[in-house]
Amino acid sequence: MATPVLQVSNLTTRFRTDRGDVTAVDDVSFDVGRGETLAIVGESGSGKSVTSMSVLRLIPSPPGRIEQGQILFEGTDLLQLDEADMRKIRGNRIAMIFQDSMSSLNPSITVGKQIAEPIRLHRGVSWREAYQEAEELLRLVQIPDAKGRLSAYPHQFSGGMRQRAMIAMALACRPTLIIADEPTTALDVTVQAQILDLLKELTRKAQTSMILITHDMGVVARYADRVAVMYGGRIVEQGTARAVFKQASHPYTRGLLASVPRIDSDPSQPLPAIGGMPPDLSALPAGCAFAPRCASVLSECKSRRPALTDMGSGHFNACFAS
Ligand SMILES: Nc1ncnc2c1ncn2[C@@H]1O[C@H](COP(=O)(O)OP(=O)(O)OP(=O)(O)O)[C@@H](O)[C@H]1O
Ligand SMILES: [Mg+2]
Repeated sequence: MATPVLQVSNLTTRFRTDRGDVTAVDDVSFDVGRGETLAIVGESGSGKSVTSMSVLRLIPSPPGRIEQGQILFEGTDLLQLDEADMRKIRGNRIAMIFQDSMSSLNPSITVGKQIAEPIRLHRGVSWREAYQEAEELLRLVQIPDAKGRLSAYPHQFSGGMRQRAMIAMALACRPTLIIADEPTTALDVTVQAQILDLLKELTRKAQTSMILITHDMGVVARYADRVAVMYGGRIVEQGTARAVFKQASHPYTRGLLASVPRIDSDPSQPLPAIGGMPPDLSALPAGCAFAPRCASVLSECKSRRPALTDMGSGHFNACFAS
């Protein structure tokens, strides 16, 4: 198999808070292959964003700190780079798309300039060429009247159009990896699907790898090649999307899957939700973090943490009961 574009090993990120240390990401390891989409899925507070911010070395410090791990990106350990070298990678070889386009785009600079600037900077082309390419990118993300829109400001765009502009910006430097953190959560469902379809299509064509962060198993099913399920800062199940959907092993994954509406489900019946509350990361139990909510809990689940174990063909599960 070809060497993965990104290999994260034993990543641990902690925050110092008034209530003590919070381990937001706890000994997390995963790979992303070339052209592959890895979904990271889990409830709010499970550590998805902190994982991706750690890869980009954007953890605010203090209070945060990457305490342990290796983040090999095309063979270079990002944790060993100085800030100047890291800046050459961010937005250039690794691009990001965030949920909130309004806070990611600069309100006082035209959309065209915001797309053209990194092209000019990272690729050393003239403004003229950079603007031409920005126009092509706006066309690529299906923004009508791309040429005219170059001189528009972000607030003149709808939410969906801003998100398309963010995708154009992310693609501008032809990155090797795109990290999309809940890129469509703020949009309505139809626009959400259009934008994810577009993102998938464009990354497939360019063989760009992607980490797609979501709390929606429906999104995983439609767009991911592989999936890592996070709970309480740890990966509890990981495998190809196909394997995880067909043979979900971890009770938490099964709970997430049961809460996705199906075509054949009875709309008058409420979908089962996972009972209980997400764990308090500053006071995790000694055993499995999911044990207090788990219907299959065994006595050893309360005293020991199950390790992530390969069940064959790269399908990993961390559970004593399954
Ligand atoms: N700046 C910070 N200071 C202190 N703790 C933090 C900080 N940022 C994150 N955390 C801790 O890390 C945990 C994981 O946060 P993270 O943002 O990764 O969750 P998430 O899985 O992305 O959730 P969501 O789906 O809501 O975006 C939080 O519950 C919080 O306890
Ligand atoms: Mg998040």
